[in-house]
Amino acid sequence: MPACITTPIYYVNDRPHIGHAYTTTVCDVWARAMRLRGEDVFFLTGTDEHGVKVEKSAAARGIPPKQLADENAAEFKRVLSVFGLTNDDFIRTTEPRHELQVQHFVKRLLESGDVYLGTFEGWYDEGQEEYYTDTRAKELDYKSPISGKPLVRATEENYYFRLSSFQERLQAFYEANPGFVQPAARQNEVLGRLRGGLQDVPMTRTNFTWGIPFPGDERHVIYVWIDALFNYVTALGVGDPDGSAAPGLHAERAKYWPAQYHVIGKEILWFHAVIWPALLMALGLPMPRRIHAHSFWIADGQKMSKSMGNFVDLATIEGYIGSYGLDAWRWYMATQGPLQASDADFRAQHFHDTYTSELVNVVGNCPSRVTAMIGKYFDGKMPEDAQQGGEWPARCASAVADWTRAIDELDLVAAANAPMSLLRDIDAFINRTEPFKVAKDPARREELASILSQCAEAVRIAGVLLSPFLPAKMGELDAALAQPGAAGTTFAARTAWGVLTPGAALAKCALFPRVER
Ligand code: MSP
Repeated sequence: MPACITTPIYYVNDRPHIGHAYTTTVCDVWARAMRLRGEDVFFLTGTDEHGVKVEKSAAARGIPPKQLADENAAEFKRVLSVFGLTNDDFIRTTEPRHELQVQHFVKRLLESGDVYLGTFEGWYDEGQEEYYTDTRAKELDYKSPISGKPLVRATEENYYFRLSSFQERLQAFYEANPGFVQPAARQNEVLGRLRGGLQDVPMTRTNFTWGIPFPGDERHVIYVWIDALFNYVTALGVGDPDGSAAPGLHAERAKYWPAQYHVIGKEILWFHAVIWPALLMALGLPMPRRIHAHSFWIADGQKMSKSMGNFVDLATIEGYIGSYGLDAWRWYMATQGPLQASDADFRAQHFHDTYTSELVNVVGNCPSRVTAMIGKYFDGKMPEDAQQGGEWPARCASAVADWTRAIDELDLVAAANAPMSLLRDIDAFINRTEPFKVAKDPARREELASILSQCAEAVRIAGVLLSPFLPAKMGELDAALAQPGAAGTTFAARTAWGVLTPGAALAKCALFPRVER
């Protein structure tokens, strides 16, 4: 079945940093894992280019907003390619394919009465470009929950989206789809707020011009959040429910909608869990399957901030990649990150210790031990196993099953743990069976061959399951195990027992060198 995963589209008034790298890496690991399983995957990311923040940042530099957007979108694209991220498209909200389709959707919402012209007064968070209800503003002590700056009282004549009329439908939808938002703690927050009632949301702005013109009333530009949410469908060429799509759209991609996962940070959950589903309901389009809202990276125990000097920016990330390698960076992101309900602390020592204890001591060491012994005792040729795998085919099959279940749930920690625990079991098996001692007794040659052959095959399967996390290094492992064309075969074939043929030449491999700190 076609499967789509999306990142938020990133604001172009900022340069790429760990937050962007994190969400994109999570999606990349999932997309690679699904492709490995033979699924037809579409991985979407891009940039959010309109709105007052971008207009102001550009003005501060004395350049047109489009120029700022072009520069920073190019930087985001460059980073994606340097980091080997495998997105299938990069949508920019200033592209005609997006703008035209957004105007088309908004027109339809006007026609259906879901959008109307009205006056509004409320508590506004300037940094977030978001209004809060009176109750919510009071709860927040009239301060932005993100920046801490005071909320301001603002009045506007605007077009509104009739969000209030979707409360019951949204509640019914949540009842029918209990795992829609994950983790569960985040879904409970949404449901709590939803029960508190919904207000109509402004769809347009008149106080600046850097946005998509509102169809039929060009004094207004479309509110950046509404514009941005639509990227998920405009990039996929999703048209109207009757199947029609604007010319120039990628109609052939519509099969990827609904997305399997929208992966986002927790600070933008309300837009994705309430406003976005309501917009889709109003347009008669299918709902995404799941929204995964991860938590935040903090650094050295504190919120990251540029002024504190603990901000993990692009230069810092590139420093880690330079010292430890790109795969090590991916590993830390995917296995130590804030994917569930708690924030994760980024610390240099922790990065180093994770690298050493997991990548050097397990993922590097186990294949190195096995291939070195095969080199020494069998002249580098895969030995023959008279026991046909012994306990290992079943052990590997259970690792594959655990991994598959975890990928379905976007549980990257559990997915990484399946092959890791397999490698640890192989190490324990080596320690227990002591092939280095068995090798001293020529009468136990057959036993030695079985032990090492089983280890090599199990290592190979662990490598397949690790490959979405560590693509370059697991490519090296495949090469060492004489599996150069492995990527072209099916997942079932790659994870089946008995792929390494007796007599095949295996090379010694040293995947993760120790790094001094
Ligand atoms: N443009 C909006 C999203 C529109 S989606 C239709 C936006 N952009 S953003 O550039 O601010 O990126 C926000 C995303 O960056 C968050 O949702 C999250 O994915 C990521 N992160 C930003 N800082 C982060 C951390 N410190 N830690 C982890 N991820 C965070 O919001």
